[in-house]
Amino acid sequence: MKDVPKKITIDELATFCKRKGFAYPSGEVYGGLAGFWDFGPLGVEFLNNLKHAWWQYHVHQREDVVGIDGSIITSPKVWEASGHVNNFVDVAVVCKKCGHKTKVDKHELKDAKCDKCGGTYENLGEFNPMFTTEVGPVKKDAIKAYLRPETAQSIFANFKLIYEHARLQLPCGIAQIGKAFRNEIAPREFLFRAREFEQMELEYFVAPEAICELMDEIKSVKLAVYTAEMQEKKQEPKVMKLHDAWKKGIIKTDWHAYWLAKELMWFVSLGADSSHFRARQHTSSEKSHYAVDTWDLEYQFPMGWRELQGFANRGNYDLTEHQKASKTSFEVIFDNATGKKVLPHVVCEPSLGVGRAFIVFMLEAYAFDEKRQNTILRLNARLAPYKAAVFPVVSKGRQLELAQKVHRELGKEFSTLFDDSGSIGRRYARNDEMGTPYCIAIDEDSLKDKSVTIRDRDTTKQIRVKIDELRDTLRKLIWDEIAFEKAGKKVETRVK
Ligand code: GAP
Repeated sequence: MKDVPKKITIDELATFCKRKGFAYPSGEVYGGLAGFWDFGPLGVEFLNNLKHAWWQYHVHQREDVVGIDGSIITSPKVWEASGHVNNFVDVAVVCKKCGHKTKVDKHELKDAKCDKCGGTYENLGEFNPMFTTEVGPVKKDAIKAYLRPETAQSIFANFKLIYEHARLQLPCGIAQIGKAFRNEIAPREFLFRAREFEQMELEYFVAPEAICELMDEIKSVKLAVYTAEMQEKKQEPKVMKLHDAWKKGIIKTDWHAYWLAKELMWFVSLGADSSHFRARQHTSSEKSHYAVDTWDLEYQFPMGWRELQGFANRGNYDLTEHQKASKTSFEVIFDNATGKKVLPHVVCEPSLGVGRAFIVFMLEAYAFDEKRQNTILRLNARLAPYKAAVFPVVSKGRQLELAQKVHRELGKEFSTLFDDSGSIGRRYARNDEMGTPYCIAIDEDSLKDKSVTIRDRDTTKQIRVKIDELRDTLRKLIWDEIAFEKAGKKVETRVK
């Protein structure tokens, strides 16, 4: 019995997420507000797991990265210095033929054609997507401030403090997960382009010209590479080892090859298929005001290949600007022996939208099982909203009491769901659809042998495990430290 991945459109995914309680348009009862989303009971668990998995990989499991949590509103001087007030500008356009509204880079306006129908655009004027607000309740004394359009700037503006407090040494990274806001002209495609969204960003600081000593970590990682030149010559992307792409000068810096590979490895470690990703270099007209060279990790979304995560080479643009505007030195000691100081460069800034990662993992997990006639959400156990559902086969008496006790015990460590309504088959189906990797059934025998049955979502295989060992076993299963069949005594079809 095998479930098969099912291709769905972005609208079908949005409908599924609404039906199961992952995400809804914000203010749904009043018709919603374009570009704003609320996350329901499953959505909040899934989002928290996703962000936690990112944090573990980028902060906890590295010795060279620390994290921060900056505020959403900060001194407007930060945004003046970073160039966002003057340069973070797009042109709003509307297609003269089909009325499709979008934004284009001002350098591309002359040649831009509608991506829906190929028609020409009418210019609706330049706009800055930063949301503004006023700080201070008395109108005449209030100052104009901005909701941050990226999390990166609180890392740059605080760089010197963080560097000293965490006793960092180059090369090193500072990571942050948090809300960002952009007044997009055309929010669309579910969470893909929202007005309020979250970013998971890592600014990786190196001494100018420093080489990446970590390249061995990515030696075997392969990805389709699509350079600016290939795009201009209308060539197809080429699958290659990212290490080789750097050696051959296709990817100019080792740091870019390294972080592209590491980010792909993160997605793959959580169940994504690497053939759905590619690295695309920005063409010269696409680059942001601060970027020297930019690559995107793109994903094959249902609406086509699109940016999932950006990797800008910001050079020392941001630290230079904050240094100038604040009249504070952002240089750090590079060589303790000589006391030599440098202004660090950010050769690569992996910057990922949480909402886009949400869509990717959902699409990768969505499958349909013909035999079970049910959707199976094959989310990696670490991402799944609930790690296990606990149910008594008979929802009363001692079985019910024991199931409640098991649920409380597991709840000390895992997000688990207690489910005692409907037939056992219905409970399995419900949990398969919400991505719960393990269902734990308490039956009549459990009262005597102090064991429970665990059923695996993807194979429907079942094992019997002692209640005393359940917490340990579940932890090992979630972290893939033990094969399901080896985690307990095999059960034929004890509980269907
Ligand atoms: N600090 C660099 C920066 O913000 P960006 O390419 O503008 O670069 C980085 O954004 C990532 O943030 C994107 O790759 C995408 O994943 C996410 N993102 C940007 N705008 C978004 C939006 N309106 N809705 C959802 N995600 C967005």
